[in-house]
Amino acid sequence: MDTRSEDARLPYYEDPSPGSGALPARAWYSASDAARLSLNGAWAFRLSGTAEGADTGFTADDADTAGWQEVTVPGHWVLQGHGAPAYTNVNYPFPVDPPRVPTENPTGDHRRVFDLPADWPAAGECVLRFDGVESAARVWLNGQELGTFQGSRLPHEFAVGHLLRERGNVLAVRVHQWSAGSYLEDQDMWWLPGIFRDVTLLHRPEHSPADFFVHAGYDHTTGTGTLRVDCDVPGRVTVPELGLDLATGEEATAPVEPWTAETPRLYDGELDTEGERIPLRIGFRTVGVEDGVFKANGRPILFRGVNRHEFHPETGRALDLDTMREDILLMKRHNINAVRTSHYPPHPAFLDLCDELGLWVIDECDLETHGFCFFEDWRGNPVADERFTPALVDRAQRMVERDKNRPSVVIWSLGNECGAGAGLSAMAAWIRDRDPSRAVHYENDYDYPDSDFYSRMYAPHAEVELIGRREEEPLADPELDAHRRSLPFILCEYAHAMGNGPGGLSEYQRLFETYERLQGGFVWEWIDHGLPRRTPDGRVYFGYGGDFGEELHDGNFVCDGLLFPDRTPSPGLIEYKKVIEPVRITGDPAAGTVTITNGHDFADLSHLAFEWVHEIDGEAVASGPLTVPALAPGASAEVKLPAPPAAGGEGEAVWTVRAVLAHDTPWAAAGHVVAWGQSAVKAAPRPAPAGGAVAPSRGADGIALGRGLFDPASGALVRLGGITLDEPVRLDVWRAPTDNDMGAAWQADLRYGPRWAELGLHRMRHRIDGVATDGDALTVRTRVAPAASNLGLRADYRWTASEDELRLTVTVTPEGEWSCPLPRLGIRLGLPAAFGQASWYGGGPGEAYPDTRAASRLGRYAMPVDALQTPYVRPQENGARSDVRWAELRADDGGGLRVTAGSAPFWFTARRWTSAELDAAEHTTDLVPGDTVWVNIDHAQHGIGSQSCGPGPLPQYVLNVAAAEFSLAFREVTGS
Ligand code: GAL
Repeated sequence: MDTRSEDARLPYYEDPSPGSGALPARAWYSASDAARLSLNGAWAFRLSGTAEGADTGFTADDADTAGWQEVTVPGHWVLQGHGAPAYTNVNYPFPVDPPRVPTENPTGDHRRVFDLPADWPAAGECVLRFDGVESAARVWLNGQELGTFQGSRLPHEFAVGHLLRERGNVLAVRVHQWSAGSYLEDQDMWWLPGIFRDVTLLHRPEHSPADFFVHAGYDHTTGTGTLRVDCDVPGRVTVPELGLDLATGEEATAPVEPWTAETPRLYDGELDTEGERIPLRIGFRTVGVEDGVFKANGRPILFRGVNRHEFHPETGRALDLDTMREDILLMKRHNINAVRTSHYPPHPAFLDLCDELGLWVIDECDLETHGFCFFEDWRGNPVADERFTPALVDRAQRMVERDKNRPSVVIWSLGNECGAGAGLSAMAAWIRDRDPSRAVHYENDYDYPDSDFYSRMYAPHAEVELIGRREEEPLADPELDAHRRSLPFILCEYAHAMGNGPGGLSEYQRLFETYERLQGGFVWEWIDHGLPRRTPDGRVYFGYGGDFGEELHDGNFVCDGLLFPDRTPSPGLIEYKKVIEPVRITGDPAAGTVTITNGHDFADLSHLAFEWVHEIDGEAVASGPLTVPALAPGASAEVKLPAPPAAGGEGEAVWTVRAVLAHDTPWAAAGHVVAWGQSAVKAAPRPAPAGGAVAPSRGADGIALGRGLFDPASGALVRLGGITLDEPVRLDVWRAPTDNDMGAAWQADLRYGPRWAELGLHRMRHRIDGVATDGDALTVRTRVAPAASNLGLRADYRWTASEDELRLTVTVTPEGEWSCPLPRLGIRLGLPAAFGQASWYGGGPGEAYPDTRAASRLGRYAMPVDALQTPYVRPQENGARSDVRWAELRADDGGGLRVTAGSAPFWFTARRWTSAELDAAEHTTDLVPGDTVWVNIDHAQHGIGSQSCGPGPLPQYVLNVAAAEFSLAFREVTGS
C-alpha cells in the first residue's frame, strides 16, 4: 500500500510533517529595542469533542462568541475546568496507528481580540510567536489563515505584518489535543493540551536581524575569550567591559573570566544593527569531549544533576518566571550544578536564568516515542519511519536555533526513549553541522551511533563501576564496542526519587568521584507532578494518575521528584545536597585536625567561610571560625582544630565543621550552609542492659517490676509509673511498603514489598510461650509468625528494673528458611494521644534510613509528632530518625516517656496512625489521627534503594533475617 498518498489526504493534525506557514526557527531573546506586545491573558474559549466538531466561523471579525467561556493563556484548558488531565507513563492513551489519532480529539478554539498600542511602529514587519502549544494548532489572524504547526514545546512564528490593523485584531487559534505529533510526545507526564506558553506579537523593524549566532569560546591555556557574532544583517557588536567593538562576522580575542556553572560570569554586550539593538549576555566557555572525557574550559565536569520537567501544581507546564527562578534557586542551594531538561526544551526564560545563576544544561529535544517499545522490534516507531523524519529534524532545528546563544547549554540531547532509528541520526547530523561547538547526547540506542556520551538510566552501582573502569561487557560488534568504550559516561537518569528515597546515592557519588570516565548523573526527577484535589469536606491533597477518571493510567509514578508538588524539599533532596556537597570535610579527632577537600570543578574556596562547633551530648559548648586556605579545585588541606573546650564532661563529644557562603550570592545569602562534616571525639557510655536492683513481684493487679506493671498472662507492659500504655511493647517487623519496596512491575523477582505481603508480615501473630519471674528479671517468651507460614521469629523479652527505670533486652531467633529480608526489626508501643511532643538526641533533623542517612546530623532535636511525618503523595513508611541515643514523647504538661538506647543507637519513629493505616491510605488526607501515638523503636531497618524504577538496596543495606539482640531503657519523665 502506498501510505504516502494515503497520508496526503490526512488532515493537518494527522499529517506527520512539521506543518505549514511558520517562519524559520531563530534565536530567542527576552528583550530588544523592537516593540513587542504580550497577548497573554484571558482568551475566549470553546471546547469541542472532535477535531472538526465545530465550524471555523470563530475566526471571523464578527463571529458571535456569546456562550463561549474563558481560559487564561498561557494555560491548559484541562486545568481550568474543561475536560480532565490524564497521566500515562509509557502507554499512549489512544490506539497506536501512526499518524492517525482518535476521532475523539478534544479541540479548544481560542479567540482573542487586541488593539495595537498607540506607539506601535507603522513600518517594518511583525511576527506572531507561540512559545508552546500542545499538541497541534491552526492559526488565523483577522480571518486569514496563517498556518498550522505541531511540536508542543517549541516556538513557532508567523509573519503577520500585512494583516495587522490598529484596532480590533482577531487572533483565532484552534488547538487539538491529539495529532501526529502526539506520537513524538510520549513523555512520562500528564497529557495537558492548551496554549501553555506565551503568545507575543513582535515588531521586526526593517534591517533587523532574522537571526544571529553568538560564538564565545574560551582558551584555558591563554585565558582569553574569542567572540564572533554571526548575523544575517550587518551590525556591530560591543562589549564595553572588554573594550570590544567589532563588526558582525568578525572575530576578536580578549582576556576574560570564563563562564562555568560555578562561576557564571556574563559580559553585557550589544548587537547593534540598523534596525534593532539587542542586548547580549555573553558567557565565554569551550566544551567538548577530549580523550574520552567531557571537559569545559579544559577541565572535566562532574554533573551533580537533576532531571527537570516543567511543573506547577496549579498551572501544569505553564510556568511563571518566579517559579522558574525558584527552581533554580532551590537547585543551587542544594548543590545541584546541572539540569537535563527532560524531555523537551523548557521555557526559554528558564535558560536565561541558568546562564545568569549558573547551571550546566543538557537541552533535550521534544521527543519521546516510548510507547512503541511494547511492539516487536519497536514496530512502527516514528524515529524509524521516514514520514516523520522532517518533523524530527524540524524539532531539532527549533531547539538548537532557539537556544544556541546560551552558555549554560553545553549538550544537545536528541530526545528520550525512542529506541533507535535513522530519524535520530538525521537530527544528530543536522545538529553537528549547525553547532559543532557542543556535544550531542542520546541514551536509548545502546550502540550509541549518534551520541558523544555513553549514557544510561538506573544502572546498578556494580555495572557503573565496571563502566568506570572501562571494563563493561563488550558489544557484539567490535567497532561499535570500541566507539562506546571511548565515550565518557553519564547516568542521564538515576536514583528514582519516588516516595521515600532514593537510597544508595552516596555509593553512586563515591563511584563518580573515583573514576574519571564517570561524569556524574541526573537524579530522576526534580518535582512530583501531583495535582491538587479536595476531599468532600474541603481538605486538599495531591492527586495522581487514576484520580481523574483515566481508563488507562500509571498511578503515582508521576510523583517521583525531589520536591513535593508544592516545592517543599523532600528528604531525598536534603540527602542529595549532602551527598553531592562540593567540599568534603572529614575529621580526625585523635589528631585534632579536619581535612578539607575542594570538590568544585572550577571554583576555589575563597567564597566560603568555615566554622566549627563543639558539642557535648548534642549541646553546643563552644564554637568559632576556622581558617581554611582558598584551596584550588581538587586540592586538600589538613587544618588544625582548636583544643577541645575544657568543660567537656562525661558526655559524647563531637566536632561539627561547616562551610558556609562568606558573602551573599544571587542564589543564597551569606551564611548559607554548603557543606558540613562531623566527627566524634568520644562515644557516650551506654547503660548496662541488665542487672536490675529491683525484683519483680506478683500482686493482685499483675506483675510489678520497679515502676512497671505487667499483665500476668501475656507479660505485656501495661503501665509505667503514671503512664498507661495504649498498646504494649512488642516485636514489630513490618512497615507500610514504600514505592521502592513495591518496585517496578518489570522487576518481578526482586520486589520485597509484594513478598512481605504474600508472607503476611503485616499480620504477624504473637503467641505467648511463657511469662516467668526469675530473680530480678521478668522474662516473656513468644513466637511471632503469620498464619499459613512455618516461618517464625522467637522473641524473648527480658525486663529488669532499677528504682526509676525499666530495662528491656529483646532476643530474636529466626525459625524456618527465610528467603526475604525483614522491613524492620524492633518494638512498637502505643502511648496516649496527649504525648504529642517528640524530642531526641540522635540523627536529624529529617528522616533517614540505612541507605539515606548521609544528611542525618547528630544533634538534639524537638518537634511535634505531627512534624515528624513526611507527607509522601502516596502515603508510605516515613519519618524514621537514625542513630538515636534517647527519645522522649511528652504531653503539653511536660510529662512523658523517655526511651534510652542500650547496646546500640536505635531508629525512632512516632505517628498518630498504625503502619496498617499508613499502608491503606492512598492520599495524605486518608490519614486521620487516632487516639494513640504509635512509637517504633527499631534495632534495624531495611534499606530503601531505588527499585521503583532502578536497583534495590545494596547488599549491605538488606535486613537479612538473623538472630539479633538489642536493649533499651524506659523511664517516666515529669514536667520540668
Ligand atoms: C525513565 C524515563 C523517564 C521516567 C522514568 C521513570 O525511563 O526516561 O521519563 O519515566 O523512567 O519515572
